[in-house]
Amino acid sequence: MGYYIGEPYWGNGYMTNAIKQVCEYVFENTDIIRIFAEPFAHNKASCRALEKAGFQYEGTLRSNAVKCGSIVDMKMYALVRE
Ligand SMILES: CC(C)(COP(=O)(O)OP(=O)(O)OC[C@H]1O[C@@H](n2cnc3c(N)ncnc32)[C@H](O)[C@@H]1OP(=O)(O)O)[C@@H](O)C(=O)NCCC(=O)NCCS
Repeated sequence: MGYYIGEPYWGNGYMTNAIKQVCEYVFENTDIIRIFAEPFAHNKASCRALEKAGFQYEGTLRSNAVKCGSIVDMKMYALVRE
């Protein structure tokens, strides 16, 4: 899962809500059993939105990407069908 919301709308709970609703739809309407997201480890807002939407932190993917010339860690979060 990946997502982006315009900066004027940050911090209102919109993305947490959207993540929850999309995941509910996917689990109710498909046979998908696992939804995952890999935010940059430094992206606190994205990690927090996933946690608030019920995603579980599964570990850090060390040196997993190059962003603006820097090597950065990413985090693995997943929501698994109950
Ligand atoms: C990440 C993003 C999608 C979050 O959307 P949003 O609608 O603002 O998220 P929400 O309001 O649902 O939740 C954000 C949470 O992060 C928290 N937060 C925001 N900035 C933070 C920071 N620097 N440190 C810690 N927590 C932070 C907010 O306080 C909120 O948590 P709370 O309700 O416990 O207070 C949005 O910032 C965005 O589009 N960013 C640019 C693109 C991006 O980074 N996409 C994700 C790629 S993995």
